[in-house]
Amino acid sequence: MYSEKVMDHFNHPRNVGEIEHPSGVGTVGNAKCGDIMRMYLDIDEDGIIRDVKFKTFGCGAAVATSSMATELVKGKTVEEALKVTNKAVMEALDGLPPVKVHCSLLAEEAIHAALWDYAAKHHLTIEGLEKPVNDIEEKIQDEEY
Ligand code: FES
Repeated sequence: MYSEKVMDHFNHPRNVGEIEHPSGVGTVGNAKCGDIMRMYLDIDEDGIIRDVKFKTFGCGAAVATSSMATELVKGKTVEEALKVTNKAVMEALDGLPPVKVHCSLLAEEAIHAALWDYAAKHHLTIEGLEKPVNDIEEKIQDEEY
C-alpha cells in the first residue's frame, strides 16, 4: 500500500523537533481526522531557509509527508518553498494511496502557514502566498480533494 520512501520517512522522519526562536511557525489541523502539524522555519536575512523542523500529531502518511516536505524546503528560498506543493511532496515519496492524499495537503498548508507567520513578523509580502487555513478540511471541501 505504501511506497518504500513513505515507509522510510515514517520510520525515520527527518527534521523532527522544534526551533527555539523560529522566523516563522505555522500550525494546521484537520478537524475530520484530528491530526495536527506544526512547522518551524529558520530563515536568514537573504530569505534562505536555513533550518526547518516539524512536529506532527497524526497518521503515518502525515508524518511521512511532513518529513519529506521539510527535506524539500531546506536550503531553498522562500519563493522556492512556496512551490513545494502537496503534489511535489507526493511525487518525492513515490505516491500515496488515494485515501491519504489529503494528509499531504496538511504538509503544504503547514509550510504556507509558517511562511505567512514569517512574512507577518517581518512586514513582508510573499507573492503568491494566500492566507492559510487553520483547518485543512475547509480547503479539501473547496477543492474537492
Ligand atoms: Fe489525518 Fe492523515 S488521516 S492527516
